[in-house]
Amino acid sequence: MSTFHSALMTPLAGRIAAQSTAPLALRLDAALQAALPTLLAQEPDAVERVADLLDTAAHAPDRADLPTLAKLLRRLQTQLRDLACANKPGLRAIELADRLLRSTRPEIMDAAWAPAWLHAAEMRWLDQFNLDLGNYARWQALLLDAVADLPDARIEDVAAGGAGFLLWVAQHSPRPDLQLTASDYSSDYVALGQRAVALSAPDGVPLAVVQRDATQLAQLAGQVDLIVCTQATHHMPPELIARLLHQGLRAATRGVLVIDVLRSAGAMLAASVGTNLSTPAPPLMIDAMQSVRRGFLPAEFALLAHLAGARHVHASAHGPAYAVVRAWR
Ligand SMILES: C[S@@+](CC[C@H](N)C(=O)[O-])C[C@H]1O[C@@H](n2cnc3c(N)ncnc32)[C@H](O)[C@@H]1O
Repeated sequence: MSTFHSALMTPLAGRIAAQSTAPLALRLDAALQAALPTLLAQEPDAVERVADLLDTAAHAPDRADLPTLAKLLRRLQTQLRDLACANKPGLRAIELADRLLRSTRPEIMDAAWAPAWLHAAEMRWLDQFNLDLGNYARWQALLLDAVADLPDARIEDVAAGGAGFLLWVAQHSPRPDLQLTASDYSSDYVALGQRAVALSAPDGVPLAVVQRDATQLAQLAGQVDLIVCTQATHHMPPELIARLLHQGLRAATRGVLVIDVLRSAGAMLAASVGTNLSTPAPPLMIDAMQSVRRGFLPAEFALLAHLAGARHVHASAHGPAYAVVRAWR
């Protein structure tokens, strides 16, 4: 990949996302967020049932009933859309278009046959993309805000891939007291992250890279202040995101910060144009678009965070292409 191309084209793609259809996605999101309190008040039994299922998943994972949880979450998401769009034909049209955009088909990088070299290539591209777009700096600001008054804050970035984000934080943070851990369930990515940290983490900044499933965080209780998760929830179905949130909220004193791609036609177009111009490798071009189609609206994260037991939830768009949720108890 040419760094020149990437440096030129990824900001260009970002601009396309900013100026195209993100406003439609945000209009739908605003209506969903407004309907959320009504849905939660109307469905106390479903809310309680989800809480029970998530408790079981945390304490007895072998007895977790994921299909029932998935079905309940699907029903609540549909009800939320129906509530938000009732008697609003314009909004219903946007909602229908969003249904066409939304997809649960896995990315190529998640296929069982995808070779390790493809994983490494996609992760390197993603890291370069985040650097070119200034994402790490923006996400660091959110992270620092969440632990602003907490000395020696312990932060774990789960589903961290090659640890690119926390490595950048270790290199640039004004807070050398932070205790950083990057984790991922893939041993390939953990090895990639450990190599990168050994090569370029500054001396004296604690940054560990360990293997962990982001949906099994109960064992971290009392050992972490903030769980962060960037660009990874779109690899998980809602029932696993709910587990991540439920267990992260209980394990971390400052709760959870999730950042991921915002599902919108504009962001998908930008992903297509950006990868075509900067890195025209077919698996990457497909995965970049598919990741946007698998992405979420902030209100969808907000629903999951409330169901996972958060008392405080701030879910919003962050620029034209990202959704951010900060949730704590
Ligand atoms: C697109 S990468 C994002 C990596 C990194 N967070 C970033 O922003 O560049 C998605 C990562 O999620 C990881 N992942 C998906 N499901 C996971 C789970 N249940 N537990 C831990 N890691 C998971 C994958 O192994 C992969 O490294």
